[in-house]
Amino acid sequence: MNGLIKDLLDDNRIKIPNHIAIICDGNGRWAKKKGFPRTFGHRAGTKPIENITRCCSELGVEVLTFYVFSTENWSRSDEEVNFLMKLFMEFFVKLRNEAGENIRVRHIGIRDNLSSELINEIKKTENSTENNSGMILNIALNYGSRSEIADAAKNIMHDIDTGSLSADKINEELISKYMFTSGLPDVDLIIRTSGEMRISNFLLWQSEKAKLWFTNDFWPDFKYDHLKNAIKYYNVIKY
Ligand code: IPE
Ligand code: IPE
Ligand code: MG
Repeated sequence: MNGLIKDLLDDNRIKIPNHIAIICDGNGRWAKKKGFPRTFGHRAGTKPIENITRCCSELGVEVLTFYVFSTENWSRSDEEVNFLMKLFMEFFVKLRNEAGENIRVRHIGIRDNLSSELINEIKKTENSTENNSGMILNIALNYGSRSEIADAAKNIMHDIDTGSLSADKINEELISKYMFTSGLPDVDLIIRTSGEMRISNFLLWQSEKAKLWFTNDFWPDFKYDHLKNAIKYYNVIKY
């Protein structure tokens, strides 16, 4: 076991959140501060994803979701978007080969405008980890909450039209089943780095009861200590 997480596990007052969702923000500013191009920050940002995945898995978190690319992020320069797409492809390969600890990797988001090469890597990683029984790791890539909700509405209408659903069956539980996160627990804790206190179209439906924890530190500097502080905050603050 990673010695690092032992302090949290040994503290029996601490309840570990079932679903932690992280908005990984500040890669560009982190790089700029060091005099490097933004892309350098994106690459550096993959390290804490790996590290925090390992920590959460060992802590017994059920679901961990990372927001790495929003539906709005296509408006960035072609150079940056292309770099990110290549990086995501490498990252899914890495997850497939190194997703030790019994992790199930899933993609949440719209696939339509992703390249067929990236979709292929995503599918391969999902398929090769789907029989694992440990933590579910969601990668929110080309994800946008409003479009997810709009698609759910469209799919519900479709099922009513084709007769497999009747309108009086629509309730919160049913709507949840039409989300990318169907069957997963709602978000308990949202973490956002880099001092931005926004939700940026992330898991709006699923975060009804979520507590929010922010840090001014940039994502590439995110460490276990940040996670620990966020989990402690989750345990103390009651709305
Ligand atoms: C987060 O870092 C990663 C992505 C959204 C892809 P940013 O790229 O948003 O970095 P800043 O916020 O511009 O510093
Ligand atoms: C959206 O990215 C959130 C992610 C980290 C993927 P931005 O950093 O571009 O967020 P906004 O648009 O500034 O809120
Ligand atoms: Mg940002």
